[in-house]
Amino acid sequence: MSAHGTPIPMTAYASGPLTGEAHVPGDKSISHRSLILGAMAVGETKISGLLEGQDVLDTAKAMQAFGAEVTNHGGGNWSVKGVGVGGFAEPDNVIDCGNSGTGVRLIMGAMATCPITVTFTGDASLNKRPMARVTDPIALFGAQSVGRSGGRLPMTIVGAAEPTPVRYTVPMPSAQVKSAVLLAGLNVPGETVVIEKEATRDHTERMLAGFGAEISTVETEEGRVITLKGQPELKPQDITVPRDPSSAAFPVCAALLVPGSDVLIPNIGLNPTRAGLFTTLREMGADLTYENERVEGGEPMADLRAKYSPNMKGITVPPERAASMIDEYPVLSVVAANATGDTVMRGVKELRVKESDRIDAMAKGLRANGVEVEEGDDWWIVKGLGAGNVPGGATCETHLDHRIAMSFLVGGLCSQKPISVDDGGAIATSFPIFETLISGLGGKIERT
Ligand code: S3P
Repeated sequence: MSAHGTPIPMTAYASGPLTGEAHVPGDKSISHRSLILGAMAVGETKISGLLEGQDVLDTAKAMQAFGAEVTNHGGGNWSVKGVGVGGFAEPDNVIDCGNSGTGVRLIMGAMATCPITVTFTGDASLNKRPMARVTDPIALFGAQSVGRSGGRLPMTIVGAAEPTPVRYTVPMPSAQVKSAVLLAGLNVPGETVVIEKEATRDHTERMLAGFGAEISTVETEEGRVITLKGQPELKPQDITVPRDPSSAAFPVCAALLVPGSDVLIPNIGLNPTRAGLFTTLREMGADLTYENERVEGGEPMADLRAKYSPNMKGITVPPERAASMIDEYPVLSVVAANATGDTVMRGVKELRVKESDRIDAMAKGLRANGVEVEEGDDWWIVKGLGAGNVPGGATCETHLDHRIAMSFLVGGLCSQKPISVDDGGAIATSFPIFETLISGLGGKIERT
């Protein structure tokens, strides 16, 4: 839905070739964290390349409500004057995190060890999502919470006035939960330890170290053991947000699928905890190359070049790779539909609790467009028809999920009949320039 709640139906038509450069927006995960850690530092953090999608704007507004001074200087340049660890003021009103699970879960963690009471809410998608995964660990610090049945928003959290340190093993692969516990641990005397059995995106750990916290990660038989020393004084930073590999996924996949395409997608972060899709595509036979590989701000980066790849084959995606491409399975399933043979995706239960149940949403839309899909609780298989053989012609429900909307629109750029979505409004949460970027490359997407 658009910000004013009116659905925005869209249709994508067979088009192309896609050519030129695709400059995708800043990384969503890093943008949220820049604002939150900036708000917890003492002094002014400067951020360039911030993603100005609705999710991140909601986090910026929240940080203001907690007492930080957040300024938009234009052109993706922002600054945050922080209040220091433990310095959050009690907001006067409800904190509305819109569509953003990352926003709400990270902020809940950050406030959980401050002596304040905060009520959180979100849109219809966010208010269906499970929050017990955060309220369980923050209860160990001494925070209390009351929400709707099933641990859903709206929810009020009473932060712990005298928090005690915690040792916590994250029960599901979730960077949001890991990060919530680490952010809570900031305002606790002593050491907070978080253990994750599978590596998830490590931006919080990298940024905490950058802001001057004492944090270490050790690989053990138990998993990754992350230890954070509480009550540091976080020092303000100058942050350049890399461009988002999860947004790059859409023009990359579109170029692989649309006949004759050759697209360069510059300055993409290739942190190994995020780059699983690109490895998978190359294993399927995609003509996807990394140019100008380098390290910037401690993060591996490259310019990606994607060319039309009509001979891709279905593969079994290793389940241990899931966390590094969890947001990319919807668009991978569209590529899989245009590859030859089965693409098998296992160990992906988390897809069922994203902005929508992404296995269900993609399976229904793909089937409506002539693609066979099998599914179970934590797995699905897409039966590929080969390049250009997806019939298309149907309208897909997006359930307020930006990545479902963009995935089907990418599918419509190479299907035999156009593919429509009932509502592309949620695209603005993470990739507000998606339509102009795709049309700039030569793809036809219309509001219908
Ligand atoms: C994110 C973590 C992932 C991902 C989300 C962003 C983050 O969620 O799906 O888009 O920035 O920490 P989970 O922690 O639920 O896996």
